[in-house]
Amino acid sequence: MKNSLMHLPKAELHLHIEGTLEPELILELAARNGITLPFPSLEALREQYEFSDLQSFLNLYYANMAVLITEADFADMTRAYLRRAKECGVRHAEIMFDPQAHLARGIALETVVDGIHSALSSSEAEFGISTGLIAAFLRDETEDSALAVLEELLAIDAPIIGIGLDSAEVGNPPSKFIRLFQRARDAGLRLVAHAGEEGPASYVVDALDLLGVERIDHGIRSVEDPALVARLVAEQIPLTVCPLSNVRLRAVDTLAEHPLPHMLAAGMNVSVNSDDPAYFGGYAGTNFEQLEDVFGWGAAAALTLAGNSVRSSFASQERKNELL
Ligand code: ADE
Ligand code: ZN
Repeated sequence: MKNSLMHLPKAELHLHIEGTLEPELILELAARNGITLPFPSLEALREQYEFSDLQSFLNLYYANMAVLITEADFADMTRAYLRRAKECGVRHAEIMFDPQAHLARGIALETVVDGIHSALSSSEAEFGISTGLIAAFLRDETEDSALAVLEELLAIDAPIIGIGLDSAEVGNPPSKFIRLFQRARDAGLRLVAHAGEEGPASYVVDALDLLGVERIDHGIRSVEDPALVARLVAEQIPLTVCPLSNVRLRAVDTLAEHPLPHMLAAGMNVSVNSDDPAYFGGYAGTNFEQLEDVFGWGAAAALTLAGNSVRSSFASQERKNELL
């Protein structure tokens, strides 16, 4: 069973490329770039990976980005992710990156985009993984900052397929970003947003109604609103659920208490994703394996989840047909 889970063709739709920076690579890049880290050994760094909530994780996630300086750093990080994704059956990956977090450190947008893109452009040939790149905007920054960065991305003709919204959710509702999403829609970009991870179900409603997103990242708190659940089922709006992330960030107490089985049973369009796999204990395959261990699902549930991921992707219909 485990082996077949790993080989099941799947799409990864919720993945922050900066969240794939493994501790070993952090130390390697720090040495390469002459950067002194606050946690200079693997052991000291690994001790930081205990999180109490989203913010406690974000603090480490942003701090560790300090090692990403050159185009080659971004390319190496991306290639390392694709290599691991291939091992667990990922055949299509839509990858988010956080441009504002790098600009704030003085890294040029072209360095970030060209580095990631150089790995993505050879991904199909090298790893058999088709890809799409999504620029995610930090919701704890201003909308004007996001708009300026989106304009810069458009001006350099960055190879992005869409935009997303991430970072600290509570207190930063979708209503802050109406103009940003309107601008992205006008530019022909696909739209996704994190909602209902730590924030309330009403943020999911607002992401749909005010921002017009096509997919919700996380969305687990939707289950608190029966009318929203009925709508998500009726409209088959994809929710990119990240079970191990939710446990590690204490959005749920244990995997056994995760709402995913309830969401599946209700007929919601859910997929399984890894979010920030270097921080949360595993890649897509490990998420599938641990769900199987805890819920004892047979092949049917895994097939549904993997099928949902492919159908909910922004891949061409031709590519979807190859993977279904
Ligand atoms: N940025 C990286 N991972 C995130 C998550 N799980 N939620 C919000 N922002 C993020
Ligand atoms: Zn995320």
